Amino acid sequence: MRIIKLNAIDSTNSFLKEMICNETVADYTIVVAEHQTNGRGQMGTNWDSDKGRNLMFSLFKDLSIHVVEFPFYISMAISLAILKALKTLNIPDLHIKWPNDILSADKKICGILIENVIKNKLNSTIIGIGINVNQTEFINLPRASSLKNITGVHYNLDEILRSIIKHTKSYSNLLQQGKYDAVKNEYEANLFRKNKPSTFKNVEGDLFSGFIIGVTKYGKLQVLLEDEIVKKFDLKEITLMY
Ligand code: BTN
Repeated sequence: MRIIKLNAIDSTNSFLKEMICNETVADYTIVVAEHQTNGRGQMGTNWDSDKGRNLMFSLFKDLSIHVVEFPFYISMAISLAILKALKTLNIPDLHIKWPNDILSADKKICGILIENVIKNKLNSTIIGIGINVNQTEFINLPRASSLKNITGVHYNLDEILRSIIKHTKSYSNLLQQGKYDAVKNEYEANLFRKNKPSTFKNVEGDLFSGFIIGVTKYGKLQVLLEDEIVKKFDLKEITLMY
């Protein structure tokens, strides 16, 4: 394991991507930054974070075998590793909001950005994780919170990092052993609003109701609609309105 600590960088994902393109990077190479000047989120969004208060890091683990067939299993395994690490810190009411936001008490406390780099025709996966740890103000982000806001405790960032790495190793072992169903079942058991009446918005902006019943192995959300039909949606097709 190699941990590279940086004071400031544009994005730890971009930094690690560059490293992978230029050199041979070993499994569990981790880049942590105190501050990102261009932190990136899902679907082209920004990831802003107070300097030195939160955990922002990117991790490389060769998971290429899963990338080819079932990339969503990587996303599920990482979400579960973070969930486990946070459970051991006694963070209450934890759920995974599809596809891979981590919520506590219905607020987003962690985001994951998984990116692939192709080098010499081989696929490398970069796992970027941002956890709101000791930040206490989230201006214009009513659905975001932090571990400290939720529990009142000030956390040691290194301890959380070590715990996430430990649990990432065990979930990636599960994938390595082909225990795909175990990962999917555990992911679905922790899914936010599973089997609860929920409202969604489609791409046209129309609202509709349904029950989240699970995910497909390709990562689509399965929703039981009012007419008893189960429909599968991908990320661009649907927004959960809480
Ligand atoms: C999301 O939109 O929910 C994903 C956020 C991912 C943020 C992390 S912070 C460390 C890593 N580097 C980045 O630029 N993004 C990820």
